[in-house]
Amino acid sequence: MSMQGSVLAVGKCLACLEFMLFPVWRGIRASSGVGGGWSQGWARCLRWEPDSPGQRPRIPVFDYPVWLVLCRGGRARLIEVCQRGRGAIRLPADMLSIKLPELFDIHQVPKVFREDSIISGYRHPRSSALDCVLSSFQMNNETINIWTHFLPTWYFLWRFCLLCSTLNFLTDSYTWPLLVYMLLICIYPFTSSCAHTFSTMSPESRHICYFFDYGALSLYSLGCAISYGYYVIPDSWVNSWLHQHFVPIAIGNTLLCTSLSCYSRFLELQFPQRSKVLRTGAFVLPFIFDTVPLFYRILLCCGGSCNSSDGLSSHCYHLLFAFLTCFLFTAHLPERLAPGRFDYFGHSHQLFHVSAVVGTHFQMEGVIADMISRRATLLTHVALPSLLGTIGVLVLSLVLNLGVIGIFSAPLLWKPCRSSNQASERKEQ
Ligand SMILES: *[C@@H]1O[C@H](CO)[C@@H](O)[C@H](O)[C@H]1NC(C)=O
Ligand SMILES: [Zn+2]
Repeated sequence: MSMQGSVLAVGKCLACLEFMLFPVWRGIRASSGVGGGWSQGWARCLRWEPDSPGQRPRIPVFDYPVWLVLCRGGRARLIEVCQRGRGAIRLPADMLSIKLPELFDIHQVPKVFREDSIISGYRHPRSSALDCVLSSFQMNNETINIWTHFLPTWYFLWRFCLLCSTLNFLTDSYTWPLLVYMLLICIYPFTSSCAHTFSTMSPESRHICYFFDYGALSLYSLGCAISYGYYVIPDSWVNSWLHQHFVPIAIGNTLLCTSLSCYSRFLELQFPQRSKVLRTGAFVLPFIFDTVPLFYRILLCCGGSCNSSDGLSSHCYHLLFAFLTCFLFTAHLPERLAPGRFDYFGHSHQLFHVSAVVGTHFQMEGVIADMISRRATLLTHVALPSLLGTIGVLVLSLVLNLGVIGIFSAPLLWKPCRSSNQASERKEQ
C-alpha cells in the first residue's frame, strides 16, 4: 500500500476512535472480497457502524490525548474528510518518494567509465556525493561491489575486537605485527568500497578513488610481509639475509606496486592490454615476494616435516583463493561470455571481491594460528618486534604511499577545467 493510502487511513480512522485507534488487521476470516481485513475495517469506520448489528451507532467522544483533542473542531470536518477521501488529504507526490539516481547504458557514458562486457547499470558520470551514497542502496553495476567489501570490513573489525579482548596489543610487543596486519585488512576493503561508491563523481575522482584503492591494497601486502616475516617464516630461515631484509624490501614493493598500478590507469584508454598486464603484475609481484616463506614451508611440509597445530592448512586455503582472485581479475569471466547478462549480479569484479575477502579470512586464521602455536619457538631465536619495525614501518609506508598517490593525483586536480570540458564533449557525442 502507498504511504498516501496509509496517511489517508489514519485520517479516516480518527472518525471512529470508538472502535479503534489505528487500522487493525482483523484477520483473514474477517476479510471478505478483494480488500481484505484492513479495508473492511476502514469501511466499517466510514459508515459509523456499531460492532454488532443490534447496537446503536455511537458518536466518537474525544477523551483522548492532546493531539486528538485538536481535532475537536468537529465531527463535521471528520465526516468531510471521510467523504472526500483521497482528495482531502493529498500530500505532494515528491514528498513521499526519494528520487533514486538515474542509470545509463554503456554508450551513454564517457569512455573512461566503460567496463568491458558490462552493458547497463552505469551511474551518472558526474554524480553528486549524495547520489553516490544513495546509489549504494539502488541496484546498479557497482552496488554489489560496494557491499562485498563494506560488509567484510565489519567482519574483520569484529575479529579485530575479539582479538583485542584476548591479546594484549598495548604492551605485548610479540602481537604488534598482527596488530598492523589486522589494521590493514580492515582498511583495504573499506577503501575499496569507498572507491566504488564515489568513483562516479567525475573522471578525475574515478582515477583518484582507484589510486587510493590500489594504495590500500599495496599497504595490505606490507601487512602480509610484516606478519609473515615474524610468524610464518620457516624455522630454518630465521635470521637469514632474506629474513633481515624482508620488511624493508616489502616497503619498496608497496611503493613500486602503488606507482605501477596508478600509472597503469593512464595507459588504460590507449593501451588497454598493456595497462592490464602492468596492473596485474604490480599486485602479483608483492604477493609472490610475501608468499616465498610460505611456499618454502609448504615445500618442507610436503617433504614430511609438518606441524599440525600451526596454520599451514589455512594458509593453503588462502593460496587457493589467492589464485582464484588473480584468475578472476584477469579473465573477466563470466561476463565476457555473455555481455550484458552479469551487469548487476555475478560479474567478475564482484567474484573477485568475494574471493579476495574469503582468501584474506583464511590468511588471517593462518597467521593467528602460527602466531599462537609458534610463540615459544620463535621467541628463542628472534628478537621481539620493535615499535619502529611494526607501527613505525606502517606509518612510514602510509606516508610514502600517500605521497605517490599525491604525485599521480596532482595533474588530475590541476587541470580539472580542461578535462571536464572534454568529458562533457564526449558525453554529447
Ligand atoms: C559501473 O559503472 C560505472 C559508471 O557508473 C563504471 O565506472 C564502472 O566501471 C562500472 N563497473 C563495473 C564493475 O562494471
Ligand atoms: Zn574493487
